[in-house]
Amino acid sequence: MKGWKLILLLLVVAAGLAIGAGVSMLHNGLSAHATPTAMEAMLARNARHLAIPANARNEHNPVTPSDQNLQEAMAHFADHCAPCHGNDGSGDTLYGRGLYPKPPDLRLAETQKLSDGELYWIIGNGIRFTGMPGFVPPHRPQDDWKLVLFIRHLPQLTMEERVEMERDNPKGPHEHVEDQEEKDFLQGKPVQQKTESEHHH
Ligand code: HEC
Repeated sequence: MKGWKLILLLLVVAAGLAIGAGVSMLHNGLSAHATPTAMEAMLARNARHLAIPANARNEHNPVTPSDQNLQEAMAHFADHCAPCHGNDGSGDTLYGRGLYPKPPDLRLAETQKLSDGELYWIIGNGIRFTGMPGFVPPHRPQDDWKLVLFIRHLPQLTMEERVEMERDNPKGPHEHVEDQEEKDFLQGKPVQQKTESEHHH
């Protein structure tokens, strides 16, 4: 990149950050419940695009889109990504709604038009200053490429697939108890009395 381009980019990013920070402070007291302005979102997206090295952006997915690979990616996404992104990629989750910026709807064009290499880079590196973590080993490159396949599949996700994914969503102690009760019930064991009051968010 030529020197002047870099300087221009830094100026644009700095101006964007200053405007974004100023606007949120004035209007929202820095609460994460707010939604970034269109300007802030556009600047962040462009800066990220430029920040991802071109050779990474142009990488092709080496993993074949077989049923087996997709199944593995679905289980993986349900476990590691769905708490923020939702099984359907909508981002409409307890965590997702409380993040700033919020996870975008991964089914929509803004995400789908990113290249395979760009999606892969984002999964491995995360996105700085946002809730999106970079996934480091033991996340394996193959697994991340499979997740890219799954992100491409999201717009066609069926209701059955979504329900199937719920099995692999991380569970809290409450659900473990429920699972055990269901097993006990199916095996004809007497159901235990609940001792603690129910805990809901
Ligand atoms: C702790 C919450 C959290 C988890 C867990 C998480 N993400 Fe994200 N993700 C986010 C947020 C927030 C963004 C939006 C960042 C931004 O606005 O630049 C995001 C953005 C993304 C994007 C970029 C989409 C776009 O259009 O810009 C991809 C792709 C993505 N996540 C994939 C994943 C995958 C795959 C996993 C699991 C391996 C995952 N994420 C786990 C919070 C999360």
